[in-house]
Amino acid sequence: MAACSFRRSIASQLSKILDLPPENLIKSISAVPVSKKRLIPADFQLSIDSITEDSSSDHSAQDLQLRAQMLAEKLKCDAVVTEISTGPGTVNFMINRELLAKTVLQQVLKDGSEYGIKSELFSTVPRQKTVIEFSSPNIAKKFHIGHLRSTIIGNFIANLKVALGHQVTRINYLGDWGMQFGLLGVGFQQFGNNEKLKSSPLQHLFEVYVQINKAAEDENTKKLAKDFFRKLEEHDEQTLSLWKQFRSFSIEEYIRIYKRLGVHFDEYSGESFYQEKSQEVLKMLEEKGLLQKTIFGLQLLQCFLSKCRKGTGIVDLSEKKDLSSFSTVMRSDGTSLYITRDLAAAIDRMNKHNCDTMMYVTDKSQSNHFQHLFQILKLMGYDWAERCQHVSFGLVQGMKTRRGEVIFLEDVLDEARSRMLQNMASAKTTKEIENPLETAEKIGLAALIIQDFQGLLSSDYQFSWDRALQSRGDTGVFLQYTHARLHSLEQMHGNEQLTDVNVACLQEPEAISVLQHLLRYDEVLYRSSQDMQPKHIVSYLLTLSHLAAVAHKTLLVKGSAPELAQVRHNVVMWLKSVWGTQGVLRYGSVRPALELLREYAPSG
Ligand code: ARG
Repeated sequence: MAACSFRRSIASQLSKILDLPPENLIKSISAVPVSKKRLIPADFQLSIDSITEDSSSDHSAQDLQLRAQMLAEKLKCDAVVTEISTGPGTVNFMINRELLAKTVLQQVLKDGSEYGIKSELFSTVPRQKTVIEFSSPNIAKKFHIGHLRSTIIGNFIANLKVALGHQVTRINYLGDWGMQFGLLGVGFQQFGNNEKLKSSPLQHLFEVYVQINKAAEDENTKKLAKDFFRKLEEHDEQTLSLWKQFRSFSIEEYIRIYKRLGVHFDEYSGESFYQEKSQEVLKMLEEKGLLQKTIFGLQLLQCFLSKCRKGTGIVDLSEKKDLSSFSTVMRSDGTSLYITRDLAAAIDRMNKHNCDTMMYVTDKSQSNHFQHLFQILKLMGYDWAERCQHVSFGLVQGMKTRRGEVIFLEDVLDEARSRMLQNMASAKTTKEIENPLETAEKIGLAALIIQDFQGLLSSDYQFSWDRALQSRGDTGVFLQYTHARLHSLEQMHGNEQLTDVNVACLQEPEAISVLQHLLRYDEVLYRSSQDMQPKHIVSYLLTLSHLAAVAHKTLLVKGSAPELAQVRHNVVMWLKSVWGTQGVLRYGSVRPALELLREYAPSG
């Protein structure tokens, strides 16, 4: 990685002066972000604060500044560093311009699609086995925006981990069990249609479920539903076979729709797998003395507050064992609950995969649930509970389609596509393309994903189709457009990358900015891989796209002297290479819309 050799070189000089091993310094040296108002004439900086171990020392701005100056005075320029300066609490380093261009060029060529990933920043990160559960919709119920977010965020994390050399198992844990299947079974007997179940299972089952829910007020229907579910639990052949059809047709349809998003799973698991195993969990809890059945007195008061009945099974989670915090794990009739099935599923997953990390991606409304889950596992003596992680995200308001409220994932995907198609058709400059529907789909989905990935995952946001699909501004449309433009430039001028181009020609500030930005890529990847936030990569790519737009206007290839044209064209190819093989395209599974017309054009 280009940045590595520079960081190493700076660290080695610093290490002699500071008497610290260079490895300890490398992570304190970071590439300076490119911004419109770039005031520091530097490519890298060392923050004095990050190398100060002594917590008792004075950290005032004045002191940091003084120490930065003292350190800078001891440092010397060399073949790599041509200028050393100081900023507020930082020592700044400028790299020899020709060396900068040459190194970046060589690295992009050498690493190709691995650019950034091969950085030594990742060398100390152990390669791990991760099981990640995401999407996890409920059969016959709404696929809401929370499921969509879980799907794209889980996919992003899984893709990023795989790219960084980790072993990843993707699990979809379906809501495929519970009383709702009793009702659905009865509903299907009354309103179901086998043809419709085969051709559009998700929609049909949802409709049946809505219909039977209306009828469920009636005592007789309630009783029938109870009977159906009891037969299901007793594995009555006929009942089970109908349920199996619900499940398998639904999965077939899910697979087809996920494909549009570039998402796949290694396992379709579900709550139904853990009926019996959750009874074993209850037994284990009992044996370990963790299961308490509610009686009278204090317990009753506590449980009254959370509406549990006498005989309900609970696990005390409070430190003082005073039931100030507890989790309900068993109904009074002895049947399991959502959390009991999750306990069984977690134990099963760990037995099967023996992984280093187990992740669950859901919205933050389930934070309590997962906290309880991990706490109970810990109480049961599973130390690996500490390696379980709930990746939670914020709630999204206002996602609607023209048909109204979102019920199916497919509606959202269709809506993104049709809105984009309309935008393309109304843009006068749109050139004819072969498959407009497919192009609209690729751009529309990119827009959806980028809007979602722009902020912190934990933030709530207000969804807006108009904002997401804007062609100007920081959107997925703009990113797709940039990539298409770079691609078409590459087609126009060929994609032969030469190593012996005269890099000394690259002196314009616009070219230097591109180089500086490329230098930072490994740090950005590293950040996203540490905190699991896609926003670092997204904002990196947006800046890259703005820089590409500026470079496109200023660093003209056409009409320049051959030597200059060649090196400038190389800049295009570096950008394309980083854009195309990395970032959202790769980790968000966004398919590039290469045929996206040049004129449908936002500016930089
Ligand atoms: N099916 C659940 C829902 O829609 C999400 C499942 C989350 N995963 C889990 N292991 N509990 O709310």
